[in-house]
Amino acid sequence: MVKKIIIYFMLSTLFLPLTSIADEGMWLPILLKKREADMQKNGMKITTQDIYNVNNSSLKDAVMMFGRGCTGEFISNEGLLITNHHCGYSNIVAQSTVERDYLTNGFWAYNKGEELPCAGLTITLLAYMEDVTSKVLEGVNNKLSEKERSLIIDKNIKTICEAATKDNHYKAEIKPFYYGNQYFLYVNEVFTDIRLVGAPPSNIGKFGGDTDNWMWPRHTGDFSMFRVYANKDNKPSKYSKDNIPYTPKKFLKINGKGVSEGDFTFVFGYPGTTQQFLTSHAVNQIAKNENPARIKLRSARLDVYNNAMNESPAQRLRYASGVAGIANGWKKWIGETKGINRLDVVSKKQEFERKFEIWSNVTEQRKEEYSGIISSFEKTYSEIAPLEMSYLYLNEAVLASDFMKNTKDVLSMIKRATKNNYTKQTSQKEADLLLEKLEKYFNNDYDKHNIVDRTIFIQTMKIFYEDFANKKYNWIKERIDFNFKSSPEAYFSYVYDNSFLSSKKKAEKALKKFKVEKSLSDPAVELLSALWGDVIEKDMPRLTELESRIDSLYRVYVKGQMEMESAKEFYPDANLTLRVAYGNVKPYKPKDGVSYKSYTTIEGIMEKENPDIYDYVVVPKLKELYNKKDYGRYTNEKGEMPVAFIASNHTTGGNSGSPVMDANGNLVGINFDRCWEGTMSDIAYDLDQCRNISLDIRYCLFIIEKLAGANNLIKEMSIIE
Ligand code: ARG
Ligand code: GLU
Repeated sequence: MVKKIIIYFMLSTLFLPLTSIADEGMWLPILLKKREADMQKNGMKITTQDIYNVNNSSLKDAVMMFGRGCTGEFISNEGLLITNHHCGYSNIVAQSTVERDYLTNGFWAYNKGEELPCAGLTITLLAYMEDVTSKVLEGVNNKLSEKERSLIIDKNIKTICEAATKDNHYKAEIKPFYYGNQYFLYVNEVFTDIRLVGAPPSNIGKFGGDTDNWMWPRHTGDFSMFRVYANKDNKPSKYSKDNIPYTPKKFLKINGKGVSEGDFTFVFGYPGTTQQFLTSHAVNQIAKNENPARIKLRSARLDVYNNAMNESPAQRLRYASGVAGIANGWKKWIGETKGINRLDVVSKKQEFERKFEIWSNVTEQRKEEYSGIISSFEKTYSEIAPLEMSYLYLNEAVLASDFMKNTKDVLSMIKRATKNNYTKQTSQKEADLLLEKLEKYFNNDYDKHNIVDRTIFIQTMKIFYEDFANKKYNWIKERIDFNFKSSPEAYFSYVYDNSFLSSKKKAEKALKKFKVEKSLSDPAVELLSALWGDVIEKDMPRLTELESRIDSLYRVYVKGQMEMESAKEFYPDANLTLRVAYGNVKPYKPKDGVSYKSYTTIEGIMEKENPDIYDYVVVPKLKELYNKKDYGRYTNEKGEMPVAFIASNHTTGGNSGSPVMDANGNLVGINFDRCWEGTMSDIAYDLDQCRNISLDIRYCLFIIEKLAGANNLIKEMSIIE
């Protein structure tokens, strides 16, 4: 009897998925079969073949990379796609002027002729993917140096990509997984004739703005719509008025009934970056040094921009897109840092590292491969840390202002001229080109912008100096102490005011008769050139070298972890390749005494309304619909007008715009954010706190039909009642 039970027990565990860690994980579509049982256990009613299939059309044919860092999905057989408002943002801004302000007022094409071509926007569709690990690693062995190894790998990658794109219009790329333990080939079709179809007014599409960003409860109507055009053969083609709407192999049907608490959902899209394998040293550096420095610098910049944006609609439009990006990272790092500390990630990682060290010393084979790796990490990270900080300050402080970016252009030009021994004539030619660019810059927005940009330059450089440079670079400290009475502000003001890059007139004077020597003595060029020598020429090459060493340490460490925890199902870090995350609609408790519901309704929009605060102005037409309760067929079973919902799908930046699908693979929402308390999920996922935020598709349909009156678009879609 006992025996029988044991055998039964052994057999039954054999057939269970090894570990069931639903919710955490971003899975590769090609390997999804392994998750099928778990997905179905969680409520999925379709098969993983319905999600990814190379031989037949599958859901993957409806999902695309939108631009270079978002996701979108087809919702009609005429190439109509939906993504986030914040993903289409820069394209909407590009189509807007103060007189014809689509960003503020919204835009709707009531027929295809009214759609607006978006120059520079691309849509990438995956044709197929393939495990090419053995082909990529052909000729590689443990005796090779990192350099030799990467030379071989690069060569193999080139050959494989060439073969995949020979005689066809596809584009191929190969990406490493698990730090180079595995490689996949991606063969894509890239479309370039993309047109803007619809965008709600900003006060809907960005309702709550940066105040509500990364937070729950949320009421942002974060969607916009575009259409992909192709040539007569349904193939990618550059913009032409003869192009016709693309016919996708698959488009998503919409579940008009929505989902409720507990329901299965999955997110299919392009998550950008996660770093789940980081060691304690790296996480500590992020939480203690990097994030705080970034947050401080961006707070300073945001103060300046926000003041400017509140001054006039023209300035709001001028800075809107850039500020959205700056504010987004700023707020996420605040949440991430708190989350890392709350979860005590550093101690947990240290504990794991101790376990790993013990494990790695048990057999001779393990000793040979893994012993000492944790101390190698420690040593390498202690050398990397200050270099990472110089890189961070270069990007977040030194190059934060347009003034310094323009200075960088001048400096690069001077460097080219000296390196290649340019004749006077060639130098002048380059200077003319640069002047053309600068004149455009100055003409566009110089008057007010110069005050804003000057302040940004001085503020960020001051922080850079006080928190970092004065301890690291003697020359700058001496200069400020001796010549500017120890006042960095006085020095940086001097630099700005006396540089030829601070006005169009001065730039013209300096560049029309360009002299290398003379421009090198310009205070801005001189300052950047000195920093360049320290940061770019000294620190960066060393940083690159150490980063490649760290990567190879991770390659070994991750392989070791997989060996040590052989029963665990691993998933690779996000790397902007197509992934499936799945979970359930789920509320959460952000802190003691507080608990959040899993969905919001239009009531919350009215609760937040405040005509005096830009982020909380409610569009009059929306208020009218609210007052009349004119929601059409889009309410939930309780008669409420749903706006957004949260679920436990593991997502990250890049997943914006991703379709959120129900158990049957029908569209129920559009992913657009994560809850603040869970933003450390890029480093450490926590089922209690990590939630993705999705726009309820019914709210989009309501806006399209009732607010915009764009029935032409509703008719194109396939809505299941
Ligand atoms: N937090 C979201 C994401 O990471 C939305 C960003 C855009 N919205 C904003 N208010 N800046 O991208
Ligand atoms: N808003 C993010 C994006 O643009 C998605 C939110 C997240 O980081 O999870 O991709």
